Amino acid sequence: MSELEIQLPNLSEQSTQEISVMRGQIFACTNKTERECLERMLFSTNKVHANKTLRTKKGDYLFLLNFDSDTLYGVFRARSDGKKDIVHEAWGGKYPYQVEVEKDGEIKIVKKAKKLLSRFGISWIAPLDETRTKLLLSYFGYLKESTWGSLIPAITVIKDKQQSSTGTLAVGMEEEKPQIEATTLWDYPRQSYGKKPKGDNKYPGVTPAFIIYNLVQRYTEPGDLVLDPMAGSGTTIDVCKEEGRKVIAYDISPTRPDIIQNDARNIPLPENSVDMIFIDSPYGDNVRYNDHPDDIGKISSEIEKFYDELEKVMGECHRVLKPCKVLGWLIGDQWVKKKFTPVGFKVYQRLCKYFDTLDVVCVVRRSQTSNTSLWYNRARRFNFYLRGFKYLFIMRKTPPNALAPRERKIQWARYPRVKHSKTNQ
Ligand SMILES: C[S@@+](CC[C@H](N)C(=O)[O-])C[C@H]1O[C@@H](n2cnc3c(N)ncnc32)[C@H](O)[C@@H]1O
Repeated sequence: MSELEIQLPNLSEQSTQEISVMRGQIFACTNKTERECLERMLFSTNKVHANKTLRTKKGDYLFLLNFDSDTLYGVFRARSDGKKDIVHEAWGGKYPYQVEVEKDGEIKIVKKAKKLLSRFGISWIAPLDETRTKLLLSYFGYLKESTWGSLIPAITVIKDKQQSSTGTLAVGMEEEKPQIEATTLWDYPRQSYGKKPKGDNKYPGVTPAFIIYNLVQRYTEPGDLVLDPMAGSGTTIDVCKEEGRKVIAYDISPTRPDIIQNDARNIPLPENSVDMIFIDSPYGDNVRYNDHPDDIGKISSEIEKFYDELEKVMGECHRVLKPCKVLGWLIGDQWVKKKFTPVGFKVYQRLCKYFDTLDVVCVVRRSQTSNTSLWYNRARRFNFYLRGFKYLFIMRKTPPNALAPRERKIQWARYPRVKHSKTNQ
């Protein structure tokens, strides 16, 4: 292997060299896992980055980034399409999404790789589009030197795009993808991400696609079946299709042909048959979705009947969900005509009759119609609060024969308190 120094090319150089369409991927490893990658000639990811691996096609250009040593190896080619469990026992099963690779010429090493990638506007997470693939190939001396010149304008465009990013997304890549959330406060600048729309952002009460993306990534595997019994404009369908999940979507009043007309209180699926359910149900009668008499969104959340009807939906979800699998239920509270209704708590109470709680997430509300200075002024003048968040209840179907809860022994990490000086107190 030979080492390359970071040296950016001469900006005045220009070339008209034609390079055919190229796709690339950077796979990551650490000092611990690098050897196995190179000995087995197998690159891999865990479930979080499964899609990146599954999108890898035989013949793609590949690079290997060692995070610990900050080193990039190249150039490799994919010898197979990306798949699950090509070598089941590799890395002790920790990185099951794998692709077989082969060297393409002598393997070269780039040190200070993270700096280089950042200069090129490349994140290892996203697939490399043609421009980025060419940039890296040129850098590794794979393409003729003169190719550099023609690629310089592309670097500038990539960098400009990055500067205008929100920070929420891996941008400037072939496709934007949301980040996997790490905390229980989720806040999204817009309804959708990526090039293709997800759902219809004009639909009343449309769900932020980011929420469904996060649930799908965390709680399902590619190929799993996701159900949305109240699919509205079909955001769940669009997210699932893009992420390689199967999906069934129902609504009492379908808005598109891939949504099946059905009442969520009676789901026509066998028991234990779906891998995840997402529901963004009506929050009461505050939104007019359609004219169907069985729309639960015609019942006020101030009366118990609303919760009784939603409980029928919960019972059906519990029946069709496989044991240990997850249901995500999005709901918001109501404050109308000086009366507060804790819709979230009431729905949660009912959910707890059927499911265990995995977690409760707060989703910041941004794009509702009351998000105007007029309403903000009213809230202050007339002494009420606008709804600032929704709840996302992440529930799990209890495994069969679950043991009674036992007392858990927890070893807390305790850190010494910082002593404040008097002036700081
Ligand atoms: C908040 S919207 C769902 C939004 C959807 N997730 C999206 O992103 O477009 C609630 C949906 O529940 C549907 N709905 C209401 N009652 C229903 C019922 N009994 N069975 C099935 N769907 C129902 C409404 O038609 C509406 O489309």
